[in-house]
Amino acid sequence: MNQGYFISFEGIDGSGKSTQAKRLAQYLTDQGHQVVLTREPGGSIGAEEIRALVLQGDPDRWSAETEILLFTAARRDHMERTILPALAAGKIVITDRFADSTRMYQGLSRGDLRGLVDRLHDMMIPRDPDCTILIDMDPDVGLTRAKSRHGTEERFEDFGVDLQRQMRQGFLALAREFSDRFHVIDGMQDETAVHDDVLRKMTALIQ
Ligand code: TYD
Repeated sequence: MNQGYFISFEGIDGSGKSTQAKRLAQYLTDQGHQVVLTREPGGSIGAEEIRALVLQGDPDRWSAETEILLFTAARRDHMERTILPALAAGKIVITDRFADSTRMYQGLSRGDLRGLVDRLHDMMIPRDPDCTILIDMDPDVGLTRAKSRHGTEERFEDFGVDLQRQMRQGFLALAREFSDRFHVIDGMQDETAVHDDVLRKMTALIQ
């Protein structure tokens, strides 16, 4: 039976991963694959409602522990309603952010809560990505880009550049920890060069 293929994109705010996830989805669709492009927090009706709760408002709106519960609840709904059904139908699922974002943003931002993130993940999230593309980016450049969007979803961008620096190093450490599924791409190149790097990694993995 076809198992489908599950890809996540990760990176700091403004790394360009959303653009790259879209471009990969378009490329694979053009190649004749059935592709579901989704995002976190969100990706299902319930999880999109939780998205508004976690991304809008004051940076101290939630404690880190409460946030971990909210992100994990959103992910569980996203899994049940979007990701697992698509994989069962043999589709390629591409998600813009997944559990590695919780490991970094909630696991690192206010003390070391990585153990809690991992415990909840192991209890509640039945499937990990087959492949994770990390778009690595200088946080000063990334944050300028992210801020220029002037959105309402700025809770984490408001944490500032020091946290984004910590996050970049954290993502690179995660890539070493989960080296079997992580692929690190240099996000400082122009958009098409990044896309070509992503394709080079992916064509080796997807026939
Ligand atoms: P996203 O929509 O990917 O924003 P961007 O395109 O700017 O990267 O993500 C929104 C924010 O949510 C981002 O600041 C990271 C944060 N986030 C967490 O803190 N924990 C999580 O588990 C996820 C999935 C996202």
